[in-house]
Amino acid sequence: MVKRYQSGGMMKSVRLTVDAAFRVGPVDPRLFGSFVEHMGRCVYTGIFEPGHPTADSQGFRQDVLELVRELGPTIVRYPGGNFVSGYRWEDGIGPVDQRPRRLDLAWRTVETNQIGIDEFAAWARAAGAEPMVAVNLGTRGVQEATDLLEYCNHPEGTELSDLRRANGSKEPHEIKVWCLGNELDGPWQVGHKTALEYGRLAAETARAMLMVDPRIELVACGSSNTNMPTFAAWEATVLENCYDLVDYVSLHNYYEPVSGDIDSFLASSVDLEVAIEALTATADHVGARLRSPKQLRLSVDEWNVWYQQDFAGQGELEWAESRSLIEDSYNVADAVVVGSLLITLLRHADRVGIACQAQLVNVIAPILTEPGGAAWRQTIFHPFAQVTRYARGDVLRVEARSPAYPTALYGDVPLVETAATYDEESGDLAVFAVNRSRTEPLEIELDVRGFPGERTLEATTLHHEEPTTRNVASDPDRVVPRMLSKARLSEGHLTAVLPALSWNVIRLIPDEPTASSTDNKEQQP
Ligand code: AHR
Repeated sequence: MVKRYQSGGMMKSVRLTVDAAFRVGPVDPRLFGSFVEHMGRCVYTGIFEPGHPTADSQGFRQDVLELVRELGPTIVRYPGGNFVSGYRWEDGIGPVDQRPRRLDLAWRTVETNQIGIDEFAAWARAAGAEPMVAVNLGTRGVQEATDLLEYCNHPEGTELSDLRRANGSKEPHEIKVWCLGNELDGPWQVGHKTALEYGRLAAETARAMLMVDPRIELVACGSSNTNMPTFAAWEATVLENCYDLVDYVSLHNYYEPVSGDIDSFLASSVDLEVAIEALTATADHVGARLRSPKQLRLSVDEWNVWYQQDFAGQGELEWAESRSLIEDSYNVADAVVVGSLLITLLRHADRVGIACQAQLVNVIAPILTEPGGAAWRQTIFHPFAQVTRYARGDVLRVEARSPAYPTALYGDVPLVETAATYDEESGDLAVFAVNRSRTEPLEIELDVRGFPGERTLEATTLHHEEPTTRNVASDPDRVVPRMLSKARLSEGHLTAVLPALSWNVIRLIPDEPTASSTDNKEQQP
C-alpha cells in the first residue's frame, strides 16, 4: 500500500494492475437484466397505468418507459417470482374486458389480468429488452408450459399460435430464455416441492419444451437463497435430474444491513461471490459425475438490496386488488452496495450468463412512481445504468492491492473493489470501483500504458456527504453521478481519488491525438 501526502493528511493509495491479456470473459449483455413481477405496484401503476397523463393507447406509462430505456436492462424476467407458481397464463390473453379476476395466493392480491404475455412481450421489446419468461411449475406442469411456449414461439398454423395471431401478435414473440418455475425449494412457494420432485418435473418439462422449440435456453431453479438449509444439496439433486436439458441454474440473493451492521452490509458482494463460486462448484461437480462435456452457467435472476426486516411477510396481508408492497427507498450506501454487486457479477462473467436485478419499478426497484404522478430514479438506478452503458467487450481481471477493513460477517474485506472492461474494437477501457470506507477517501493508481493510443479521461462518482440521502419525488436528483474532479491521466498513469463511500466509473476513451497528459474533461454523466 503506497501512502501519499495530500491536503495535509495521509491518504491510502490502492494500486490497480490491469492488462488486456488477462480476460475473464466477454461481457454478456444479459448480465444487465431486470425483473417485472405481478406484485405490488410493479405492473399496475408501475409500468402500466391507463389514464396516467403519459400513458399510451395501451395504458403503458411513457415516463416510466423512458426511464427504463435510460436504465438499459437487456433482458426482463416475467411474470414472477412467487406470483408465477399459481399463475394461469391463459387468463392474461384475449379481450381485456373478458379476462378473469383471480386470487393471487403469493401476494394475497386480486389479479385483474389486464396485462398478460402479449402486452408484456411488446412492452419489453419497446423498452429495448429481451423478455425472459418463467413457467408455473408450482400448480401446473408439462402441458401448460408447452402450451405457453407454443403460443409464444410457434409461427402459425396451430390452435395456440393462431390464437396469438388472432390476439394481435402476428409475429411469434421469439422468447429465448425460460425459467422452469420459481424458488420451489421454499415452503412459502405455492406448490413447494422436494428437490427430487422438482428435479424430475423440471426435466420432464424441459424435454417437452425443447421438442416444441429446440432453440430455447432453460433455467433450472436453484435455492431461494444461500441461507436455505438445503442450499447446494437442492441444486445437486435437481441438476442430477436435468443437467443435460438446461443451460443455467438460478441463484437468488438479497442483502440488507443486519442489526444495523453497515460495515458488513457494505461488504455484501463478498457473500455474492462466495455464493457464485459455491453454486458453480456444485454444478461442475454434477457435470463431472455425469461425465457431461457441458458446463452450466448461472442465472442470478433475483439480486438486490432488500430491507426484508421492514416486510412483515405475505401472511399478514389483507386481500386487496392493488397495494404498495416492499417499496424500499434507497440511499447512497445502498447504491454503493448495488455497485459492488454489479462489480462481482462482472468479475464472474465467465460463469454468470444472466443476472436480473429484482425488481424494475416500485417493488425494491431503481424506479419509483406515484399513481397519476411522477416517476423518478432511485440512487441505485445510477450504478446499473452506468454499467449497462459502459461495460463493453471483455471483462479484465484487476489485481488490486487494497487496504482492508474488519467486518463482523466476512472478516477483513478490501476497502476498494473494482472491475474493468475493455472493448478491443472501440478501444474503450472502463474501470468500475467502489470505496467502502465510510470515512476516508482513497486514491487509486493505474498504469494504462498497455492500452495503446491517446485517450480522454472521463470519471464520475456517486457520493454524498450524508450517506443516508435518498432521491424523492420532490427532489429526484439529489444523488446523481457527478464529475470526479480529482482524476488525472498523465503519461499513461491514471490516478483518481475515490470519495468515502462512493461508486465510481472511470473511462479511458481513445481520442484524436492530443497531448499525452489530459485533465479530466467537463462532462455530464
Ligand atoms: O422479488 C420478490 C420475491 O422474492 C419474488 O417473488 C420471489 O421469487 C423472491 O423470494
